[in-house]
Amino acid sequence: MIELSVNIDHVATVRQARRIAEPDPVAAAALAELGGADGITVHLREDRRHAQDRDVHLLRETVHGELNLEMACAEPIIRIALAVRPDLATLVPERREEITTEGGLDLRQRPAAIARAVARLRRAGIKVSFFIDPEEGQVELAKKLGADFVELHTGEYCRLADCRPRIADRGLKPETRSPEPEVERLAAAAAAAAALGLGVHAGHGLNYRNVGPIARIPQVSGLYIGHSIVGRAIFVGMQEAVREMKRLIVEARRSQGS
Ligand code: PXP
Repeated sequence: MIELSVNIDHVATVRQARRIAEPDPVAAAALAELGGADGITVHLREDRRHAQDRDVHLLRETVHGELNLEMACAEPIIRIALAVRPDLATLVPERREEITTEGGLDLRQRPAAIARAVARLRRAGIKVSFFIDPEEGQVELAKKLGADFVELHTGEYCRLADCRPRIADRGLKPETRSPEPEVERLAAAAAAAAALGLGVHAGHGLNYRNVGPIARIPQVSGLYIGHSIVGRAIFVGMQEAVREMKRLIVEARRSQGS
């Protein structure tokens, strides 16, 4: 089984460009669920550049599937998580100057603070995931620090899959290396995590063209996707954009045989 969680931050980004009430990411979440999303993800950043506190509270009341709160391991955000009680909290690194979450969370840094946050979240009944690079050392640390899940960072795979030479004229660094070794690295990390009893999620940069090989990794039980779905929703509507992605994921998994 493989599920799709839709990240609605980019709807909030469009709203915040004008600092008015629309488009409402809470409405987008309802439509995503009608389109077949198994869950909704929202990242309440410390700088509140897209999602706002109000969104998180309303999503808690309205989302039927899994509500995943992406968050930095920072006291004010931990307190909000403890009050809102999402189903899942995914700890991510956060830098104010980044365009989006860049690398995975490096669990070698601040392990005691991370373990304390995990214990508090889990005591409140919230499952905890760490967004990490697909490295065995990070997977082992995730287990030691008490996570229920890891979310494997697919950004490097997506860069290799998408940045073919034909797009060099768009200012992106052309890439001639095959994405295949990165798929193998993700598959090895997924197998290592599952062997330790961790649930395995994956996400970042996944789109309608590159999602197949990641959906086929048998241990991956959830894909966390935002930008490509919200981008397509501008043209075909949120329900249809989610439906198309869900179909691709389910078909890829079926072709792999699990
Ligand atoms: N997973 C995590 C931890 C993220 O930070 C993001 C981006 O907010 C995503 C998944 C979704 O990435 P994208 O918007 O590129 O699909």
